[in-house]
Formats: sequence, structure tokens, C-alpha cells
Amino acid sequence: MIQTKSKILFSNYQIQKRIKELGKEITEDYKDKSIFMAVILKGAFVFASDLIRNIKEDVYIDFMQVTSYQGTETTGDVKISKDLEEQISGRHVIIIEDIIDTGITVKKIIELLKMRNPKTIEICSLLNKPSQRIVDINIKYIGFSIENFFVVGYGMDYDQNFRQYPDIRIL
Ligand code: IMP
Ligand code: MG
Repeated sequence: MIQTKSKILFSNYQIQKRIKELGKEITEDYKDKSIFMAVILKGAFVFASDLIRNIKEDVYIDFMQVTSYQGTETTGDVKISKDLEEQISGRHVIIIEDIIDTGITVKKIIELLKMRNPKTIEICSLLNKPSQRIVDINIKYIGFSIENFFVVGYGMDYDQNFRQYPDIRIL
């Protein structure tokens, strides 16, 4: 693996502590409901795996993959490369993202999923970079808002590297 000089932004301890709070909030908001989690691959899979273990209501997991990034620059071009396997019509969907930057990716995903008539649909993102937003979106659950750093680890990559770090680091 390429070594990188990197500074820890959030330790695994801090991440787990915040995820416990998010899990509690989601559990309360979805009382007696079954949650359909649409996990956005690849970056969000680590976050999703910790988050579901902190949710006490029923959770159904499905995965979706979109491609919009090359290196650290967004191309603005969002392609669905793997779709959900299950129907979401009439279900309570939460889109699970690792990080929302311009918002272009998640906006495209939410537009597409809304056409399939979910009962409700919300976004849960571990990280948020509000200063970079280009499109208007409403993110119901946010782990941490950060400045405009490029971060890796805890599932997030730079050209497919560094996903295995247990913490979140600034590249
Ligand atoms: P957006 O469409 O600009 O909001 O980009 C969202 C996607 O870009 C995220 O789901 C990530 O996959 C990727 N991304 C944005 N910022 C970062 C970062 O700092 N580190 C790693 N991936 C990022
Ligand atoms: Mg992503």
C-alpha cells in the first residue's frame, strides 16, 4: 500500500461514539417501522456495518453503486453501475452515504429512488462538507460536518486506497 503522510481527523473511538448517537436517533424516529437501508458502495459499507449494529428496529440492507469521482475531482457525471435488488415502493428508505461533497451524487440517487414511490426517503451521511455544496439537498442524519479536506479511511478512498484505516484521516 502506498504510504501517506496523513493526520487523523476522527479516531475510531470518536466515530463509534457518534454512530451510537445516530443509531439511537434513527431507532427513535423509526419506532415500530422496518427500515430499508440503501447503502452506497463502496465508501459507505464500513459506516453501514457499524450503524446497523446500533439500530434496534428491523433493518433490511441493500446496496447500490454509482460512479462520479476520479481522483479528488468530481466529474459531475453520475452513473448507476449497480442498482438495488429489492423493490422500495411503500418502504421507509434511508440512503447511507460516506460523505456528501457537492451533493450531486446523492441528489441524483434520491431523484431516481423517489420515482419508485418509497413511503419515506431520507439521507444519512457520516460526513458532510457543506462549503462544497452545489445542489440543494436535505440531509436528515449527519455524523460530522467538516471543512473542505479530502479525507480517507473508514471505507473512504483515494483512487481505491486507504479504505482499511479504522480512523478518518486528512490526505
Ligand atoms: P458529491 O457528488 O460531490 O457529493 O460526491 C460524493 C462522493 O464523492 C462521495 O460519496 C465520495 O465517494 C466521494 N468523495 C467526496 N469527498 C471525498 C473525500 O474527501 N474523500 C473520499 N471520497 C470523497
Ligand atoms: Mg461515495
